Amino acid sequence: MSDALLDRIAAAETLQDLDSVRIALLGKQGEITSKLKSLGSMDPDARAAEAPKIHALREAVSDAIAGRKAALENAELERKLATEKLDLSLPAPDSVTGTVHPVSQVMDELAEIFADLGFSVAEGPEIETQWYNFTALNMPENHPARAMQDTFYLEPRTADEEPYVLRTHTSPVQIRAGESHGAPIYVIAPGRVYRSDSDATHTPMFHQIEGLVIDKGITLGHLKWTLETFVKAFFERDDIAMRFRPSYFPFTEPSAELDVGWSMEKGRRVVGGQEGWMEILGSGMVHPRVIRNIGLDPDEWQGFAFGCGIDRLAMLKYGMDDLRAFFDGDIRWLKHYGFRALDVPTLSGGVGA
Ligand code: PHE
Repeated sequence: MSDALLDRIAAAETLQDLDSVRIALLGKQGEITSKLKSLGSMDPDARAAEAPKIHALREAVSDAIAGRKAALENAELERKLATEKLDLSLPAPDSVTGTVHPVSQVMDELAEIFADLGFSVAEGPEIETQWYNFTALNMPENHPARAMQDTFYLEPRTADEEPYVLRTHTSPVQIRAGESHGAPIYVIAPGRVYRSDSDATHTPMFHQIEGLVIDKGITLGHLKWTLETFVKAFFERDDIAMRFRPSYFPFTEPSAELDVGWSMEKGRRVVGGQEGWMEILGSGMVHPRVIRNIGLDPDEWQGFAFGCGIDRLAMLKYGMDDLRAFFDGDIRWLKHYGFRALDVPTLSGGVGA
């Protein structure tokens, strides 16, 4: 009798089967439970003879069930260990969730375009001295041009410290790059700039890219060719109308602003065609006084420079209309306008991503 029961237990192949056997034997209506109940109706001698056997049987059956349960659980664990695996050497999950901000994307695109033309990338501090931001760029104190830009001044730390400024443009990097590289120079300098201004097309912090070339025999023709090449590569079309409009910057002479032609496509202004003009950058031949401030002889070295708003380039190329949204950090906006993290712009693949 007991062997037959133990065989049933040993034959249970799953935890579920085993549980059915347990209920059939030890449950309320179970075989062993009813044997135990039957003790009550026996006469004392019979009960004294049967009780130890029935208790011993119940004990043997519970032990056997517990043993089988442990064996089945163990087998299940072994099976999991053999079939499931976690490869800790994998570097990242395959779903990339973050996106690249359009400003970073455009900076990468610009770096790619200008690297191809032989330029390297230069940097300068965002907290700048007035010498680098203004004076060295031919804007001495009380020069009316200083009033052209709404400058943020930092609180001086001592009574006689000249206040630092948050740089109002990337042009101070012209001087810094000149000082640290010497000539010839072919650099671009992308980065943050600050002006006290705020509406749909102006934010107190925005991004510019500066370009500076200093070499022997540099002419306006080199400037024009470089900007034309850049604009066509950036907007990825050849039918871009351009015009240079005379302008004024203290650090370039002559100075010109570059306008590009636009047309309406699907209800929005795009670069290309010639329904109207919009200004995209300021430029000119580096002023001899600036060349001297870099420590070079303007009779020997000439150059050109340009400065361009990166955010505005991104808006024109990718169709955003409110600059403020660039810096709100709204994840929905970033998901919509952002770029996949692993899509690196290349000239061969199209810098448009
Ligand atoms: N720094 C100028 C600006 O912020 C742009 C510029 C750069 C113009 C270089 C000429 C040459 O408006």
